[in-house]
Amino acid sequence: MRARIETPRTRLANRDDLVLLPGIQLAAGDAFRDIGMADVADNPPPSVEEFAAYQRAGRAWVVTGTADETPRGFVIIDLVDGCAHIEQVSIHPSVAGHGLGGRLLDHVTFWAAERSLLAMTLITFCAVPWNAPYYRRLGFQEMDATQVTPGLRTLLNAEIEFGLDPAARVCMRRPLTPTFTVRPHPYQVGPWASRTTANPGRCWVHLPRESGGIRR
Ligand SMILES: CC(C)(COP(=O)(O)OP(=O)(O)OC[C@H]1O[C@@H](n2cnc3c(N)ncnc32)[C@H](O)[C@@H]1OP(=O)(O)O)[C@@H](O)C(=O)NCCC(=O)NCCS
Repeated sequence: MRARIETPRTRLANRDDLVLLPGIQLAAGDAFRDIGMADVADNPPPSVEEFAAYQRAGRAWVVTGTADETPRGFVIIDLVDGCAHIEQVSIHPSVAGHGLGGRLLDHVTFWAAERSLLAMTLITFCAVPWNAPYYRRLGFQEMDATQVTPGLRTLLNAEIEFGLDPAARVCMRRPLTPTFTVRPHPYQVGPWASRTTANPGRCWVHLPRESGGIRR
């Protein structure tokens, strides 16, 4: 059943959230079954202990989509060659399609910019509609072989060892820019906007120009 999105909020994961995260990843991954990629859907998520390591490091965020504080999605981040590397982002299918994934990634973008990291990166499937094409719409650009950094190369090699077809995978990067544009957005995004959510639909938030903003 689809949940109604009322007051989405992005925050650091806390210890109580951790037990929910493997289930969110499994539920989100189910979409891969519909396109003949059951092996991806069946790939076990990180354990609660593995999620806890990200939480303790301050590199796990959740998004809550309804009036309660229950996480509906999460993102976990590794530091790879000076970039914030998206190890995994998952949104529960009951609230997918409301832009919550983009909100999470923008939140991390602000976090990364504050820490003077170089960019956001990720490795994803080229041809899955909600992977590379989706990230392209969020302002990520495909990296060619000369742009792939040693840390990303190591991750790609580990994927090959794991059995993934390298031709089906692509590294992508979204720059962190000091140049900001101002766009209207119905929800709070990033650290500043949490002060403006009393008036959803009317608040204005700063988004990186390259991100293309988040759709209303
Ligand atoms: C990718 C994901 C994080 C996006 O989060 P979200 O909150 O649903 O994002 P949005 O609401 O902005 O919309 C998702 C986009 O993917 C598309 N999409 C989502 N599920 C889809 C599906 N089953 N088939 C086709 N397109 C789909 C939507 O149409 C939408 O496209 P749009 O930008 O043209 O509107 C989420 O769909 C998810 O968890 N997917 C499964 C796990 C996954 O693939 N994670 C990424 C690993 S790299």
